[in-house]
Amino acid sequence: MDSDNWQLQAYLDHQLTQIEAALNKYLPGSTTRPARLHEAMRYSVLGGGKRIRPVMLLAACEAVGGNMQEAMPAACAVEMIHAYSLIHDDLPAMDNDDMRRGRPTNHKVFGEATAILAGDGLLTEAFILLSRLDTMDTVPANARLEIVNLLATHAGTRGMVGGQMVDMEVEGTAIDLPTLEYIHTHKTGALIKVAVEIGAIIGGATQQQRDALQRYAAATGLAFQIADDILDIIAAPAALGKRIGSDQQRGKATYPALLGLSEARRRADEMNAIAIRALDLFGNEAQPLRAIARYIVDRSH
Ligand code: IPE
Ligand code: IPE
Ligand code: MG
Ligand code: MG
Ligand code: MG
Repeated sequence: MDSDNWQLQAYLDHQLTQIEAALNKYLPGSTTRPARLHEAMRYSVLGGGKRIRPVMLLAACEAVGGNMQEAMPAACAVEMIHAYSLIHDDLPAMDNDDMRRGRPTNHKVFGEATAILAGDGLLTEAFILLSRLDTMDTVPANARLEIVNLLATHAGTRGMVGGQMVDMEVEGTAIDLPTLEYIHTHKTGALIKVAVEIGAIIGGATQQQRDALQRYAAATGLAFQIADDILDIIAAPAALGKRIGSDQQRGKATYPALLGLSEARRRADEMNAIAIRALDLFGNEAQPLRAIARYIVDRSH
């Protein structure tokens, strides 16, 4: 590993520890009634994962000179929505996957009904956290309202849920590139984009900084899902923590399926270059964001 990668690893490890502790603190306790539901929520949120969305939210806040601690509740809210999306994505009615992060999926452990409710609970919990008066009290009320609105919009039918819908609709059919791009920018890109946007808002970004970060996040979000598609074919199962070949088996719309592996890789690299260029107006304070963009296309899981 080169020195840049090593630095990123140390940065990620540090952020991860803080994010895990905050998630643990903000989630309902596993003995709080209904205990089984809260246990199911905690199982999926606290069961590993790269935490790339909260890390990017915090890194965007840092890039515009903000205080990362102030952004931690919002970072946790985004990760709760991500965890909910994974629980529902793995359900038999959706991708029907049995393994996630190296462990049985939520419905395999808790049953389908509890898994559905755990997802519902996490989605709701994210907005409870964002609207609590005892957190993020340094962020002005109008900025908080904007954050709630942006997160809801990007998580909902015009964002992630919309992407998941089309992902399901086109299973097993031949699709064109614009439809594939719609799926990827929505099911995965939307939450990554809004994570960066929220970090920028909490950090007090100027409009010019916000525009640049939006371009960065849009390119990175698409690259993230292209990399996810590639890993579904080439990853080592133990490292990936989920089943390999799941996409091909279900006839999923993916970049490698439509364009082939090498063109998919080329597009991920192209998105990475766009992301890096978007950060031109930043100096060293955006170094974590640059390293994360590279990590997203080079990762092994
Ligand atoms: C997997 O997301 C689902 C996608 C949106 C591609 P991640 O690859 O971020 O999953 P974890 O959180 O690290 O397990
Ligand atoms: C999932 O995409 C996107 C969301 C959960 C919103 P995938 O279905 O490709 O994710 P994995 O591969 O199961 O993690
Ligand atoms: Mg899916
Ligand atoms: Mg899936
Ligand atoms: Mg996938």
